Amino acid sequence: MKAPVRVAVTGAAGQIGYSLLFRIASGDMLGPDQPVVLQLLEVPPAMDAVQGVMMELEDCAFPLVAGMSASDQAEEAFKDADYILLVGAKPRGPGMERKDLLEANAAIFSAQGKAINDVASRNVRVLAVGNPANTNAMIAQRNAPDLDPRCFTAMTRLDHNRALAQLGNKTSSHVTDIKRMTIWGNHSATQYPDISHATVAGTPAADQVDQSWLEESFIPTVQQRGAAIIKARGQSSAASAASAAIDHMRDWTLGTPADDWVSMAIPSDGSYGISEGIIYSFPVRCVDGRYEIVQGLDVDDFSRERMNATEQELVEERDAVKHLLP
Ligand code: NAD
Ligand code: LMR
Repeated sequence: MKAPVRVAVTGAAGQIGYSLLFRIASGDMLGPDQPVVLQLLEVPPAMDAVQGVMMELEDCAFPLVAGMSASDQAEEAFKDADYILLVGAKPRGPGMERKDLLEANAAIFSAQGKAINDVASRNVRVLAVGNPANTNAMIAQRNAPDLDPRCFTAMTRLDHNRALAQLGNKTSSHVTDIKRMTIWGNHSATQYPDISHATVAGTPAADQVDQSWLEESFIPTVQQRGAAIIKARGQSSAASAASAAIDHMRDWTLGTPADDWVSMAIPSDGSYGISEGIIYSFPVRCVDGRYEIVQGLDVDDFSRERMNATEQELVEERDAVKHLLP
């Protein structure tokens, strides 16, 4: 057994938290030999509910849980944290876009960024799940000037997994047969799910589907999947979001397969001509606990137009929260 690591989760009494915590505790995120100390953050009115969640975690008698605590103070919950999952935020309802949450949630992420800067491990891995996830991650990062900017990421893994499922259905193949799917840009309706480098059972995906399916069905379905789930369930996706968060943190920490890559929203370093500093989803490979953007992919005009549109939206979101960026 390894030495325990500290995992902080915000919004621990919420929908996603209720699914996420039990998966972390059972070892799905960091492996069956990695004990975890859970450090939960909630707002004061939810402290009773979070106590109930902790009672249930206790009742699971998970072998890997080495300790747990709950607090309504970010400085306590993030103390020495090695992993931080920023889930706590308001979700959107029917008819809203994720960026409509910018005002409501941006303040949370600037305060939490400062607390992370002050008390978390210097090698912390942070994942923003709360929406609008990319810009929230940027707000937290810019409020944590003492940390490596690359500690901060946002989640587009749910979009990546949704894209695998759609392409799998269309080609009557299993998701495990599909490699090299890419989500570019923002976790929003402008995201660009790109199959142009993907393979299905070793052959190019683009040869197995027609352009009209791609443009009229695949891309809009993945872009609008969050809204479709809100419409059907009356609440935003939760278990699938938690599962994607587990996938994101696991692959970042334990690595991606050599013949594949994953999508992560990370600070742009200017690769593929994307504005530096915005948190943009790229194809990445993870080795030795570090992510690297997959370089050298051909970008045709169809892709370029879509990559630029989602970049433009992120630049606009950044400009809208300028007052929160030190
Ligand atoms: P929820 O309302 O069920 O739970 C959110 C929890 O966060 C609540 O318990 C609330 O008390 C808590 N919270 C609010 N402010 C907080 C703060 N300052 N500190 C700590 N906790 C705080 O919502 P949910 O369904 O769990 O969704 C959470 C967020 O995740 C939403 O913003 C949602 O839009 C987003 N989301 C993102 C993705 C993605 O792919 N990136 C997917 C699904 C949902
Ligand atoms: C999702 O993609 O399901 C989440 O971001 C929730 C939402 O508002 O769409």
